Amino acid sequence: MRIGIIGAGQLGQMLGFAARNLGMQCQFIDPTPNPPAAVCGPVTQAAFDDSDALARLAASCDVVTYEFENVPVAALQKIADRVPVYPPPAALGHAQDRLAEKQLFLQLDIPLAPFHRVDSPDDLEAAVAKLGLPLVLKTRRLGYDGKGQFVIRRPADLPVAWQLCGGSELIAEQWVNFDYEVSAIGARNVSGQVICYPLTRNEHADGILQTSVAPLQDTALTSQAEHYISALLEHLDFVGVLALEMFVLGEQLLANEFAPRVHNSGHWSIEGAEPSQFTAHLLAITDQSLPEPRLLGHAGMLNLIGTMPENLRLPAEATLHDYGKASRPGRKLGHITVIGDSATARDALLAELRESVTESIPVSGTVP
Ligand SMILES: Nc1ncnc2c1ncn2[C@@H]1O[C@H](COP(=O)(O)OP(=O)(O)O)[C@@H](O)[C@H]1O
Ligand SMILES: [Mg+2]
Repeated sequence: MRIGIIGAGQLGQMLGFAARNLGMQCQFIDPTPNPPAAVCGPVTQAAFDDSDALARLAASCDVVTYEFENVPVAALQKIADRVPVYPPPAALGHAQDRLAEKQLFLQLDIPLAPFHRVDSPDDLEAAVAKLGLPLVLKTRRLGYDGKGQFVIRRPADLPVAWQLCGGSELIAEQWVNFDYEVSAIGARNVSGQVICYPLTRNEHADGILQTSVAPLQDTALTSQAEHYISALLEHLDFVGVLALEMFVLGEQLLANEFAPRVHNSGHWSIEGAEPSQFTAHLLAITDQSLPEPRLLGHAGMLNLIGTMPENLRLPAEATLHDYGKASRPGRKLGHITVIGDSATARDALLAELRESVTESIPVSGTVP
């Protein structure tokens, strides 16, 4: 099987490693020179919507997928009559626009925080009247890792929020005073078989994922989450892995956003589950049977952001993943997974790891 992957970042790299174990060959398109996935297969250096590069990928692969959420839907549609493209481009279209995404949650009876479409300063005033303060103003498109967002705490913040978010195609969301955040990861194959991973609990700082732990041992929340993610997978006629990010507020889940791709909050599954989310994605898009995920312990994941630690001594229960990217403030450069025999053992390992990672960051490379 030849898999074409649009985007050759760390998600492409981890897909490429999983593909190798399945005896599949990968090739990639990415505009950046020497991207992380170059170690897994040939990369055509081209824009994500380069017609020639896409046509060549379509001609030389059995199936095409993507690891990057902002591939133009029209570019995918152009090759979809020549090669199967999964997840379906229409599902990607929903995920690319926060307004369409939230309208879909409403349509599928998936609870979410109140929101308001904002295209003018008057809309923003109306949003404040409807949602109260604080609220989060977000660009509808292209946001990631907390970028393109502004928390409005008082009326005086309105003009600067309006300006920083670019002044049109925005959405205002009520501030959710959540207890914690979780994500549900599910996969569906071409034949319609669905599997769900256990709920993962996530911690963000400045909008960037810092740690994930799984499984979250809460059967009521887990069955709610499985219900919501299954509804999304079915409705979108989805093929591949989908991640649904949610807020937990008491006994309730509130949907935040979904990603039509393998997800950072599922990286623990490389060491923590069988199959991993990457293997599951590849099995799904090649229409193979999806084994029910089997947990290999209590997993924790720590993202390495901005600077790689040096001289880090890892315990035997830990695995380091280095994406091979250059340092840059706020950039995800790698992650470490720990596997414990119990949630308590895992939490202790993760706490220890956090401390040693902080100590191993070279001072000269400290993020300002
Ligand atoms: N309405 C909200 N209330 C409270 N926190 C929020 C809200 N929206 C976003 N956040 C915080 O910001 C993080 C990033 O926002 P998100 O909508 O997931 O955008 P991104 O596409 O950047 O991941 C969330 O994981 C959460 O921690
Ligand atoms: Mg998010």
